[in-house]
Amino acid sequence: MQGDIDRILYHETTILSRLDEMAHTIAKDYEGKELTVVSILNGSFIFMADLLRRIPLPLQIDSWSVSSYHGTKSKGRIEFRQNSIADVTGRHVLILDDILDSGLTLRAIKDRLAAESGAASIRSCVLLRKKLQREAATVADYVGFEIPDEFVVGYGLDYNEQYRNLPYIGVLNEEAIRRHAR
Ligand code: IMP
Ligand code: MG
Repeated sequence: MQGDIDRILYHETTILSRLDEMAHTIAKDYEGKELTVVSILNGSFIFMADLLRRIPLPLQIDSWSVSSYHGTKSKGRIEFRQNSIADVTGRHVLILDDILDSGLTLRAIKDRLAAESGAASIRSCVLLRKKLQREAATVADYVGFEIPDEFVVGYGLDYNEQYRNLPYIGVLNEEAIRRHAR
């Protein structure tokens, strides 16, 4: 697996110290509020576990299974794999996703929550945000790291369901992209 990575962008220790800072900010912002975290699976499962253990507030978790990607390109259309969402009426919702690329996924999730949920507020938090030539379809309120517009894997992020368990975030090489293409 390691041989498929061109270069490592963030080691686990770097990620965790950034999560300490993000958790501190989030805990201050939501103190005294009824918080529900909506986590977007599968990509955010490690990020969610590491971030939420650093937030010393009462909170609830709802996990959504969403898919938007095929290979290394966004399809521009997202699929929700579950029909019902947790009742967040009057609660403050924080959406967690692994990465903001085109922003289409996050925008669709925010739109669905805004239309169906009766939440008191909706904000979003991503571990990574790609620096794009064009503008993303939406913004995130909390961002871990800004990265170049390259395809990355590890720490939850996949390429065709591979590499999620790498303990760091790295750029996938062209050879591996071809090998796992489908
Ligand atoms: P968007 O809709 O283009 O913003 O894409 C967001 C989703 O695509 C994320 O939740 C990821 O699952 C996936 N994604 C986007 N860029 C990458 C990447 O570089 N590596 C792995 N997954 C990615
Ligand atoms: Mg993915």
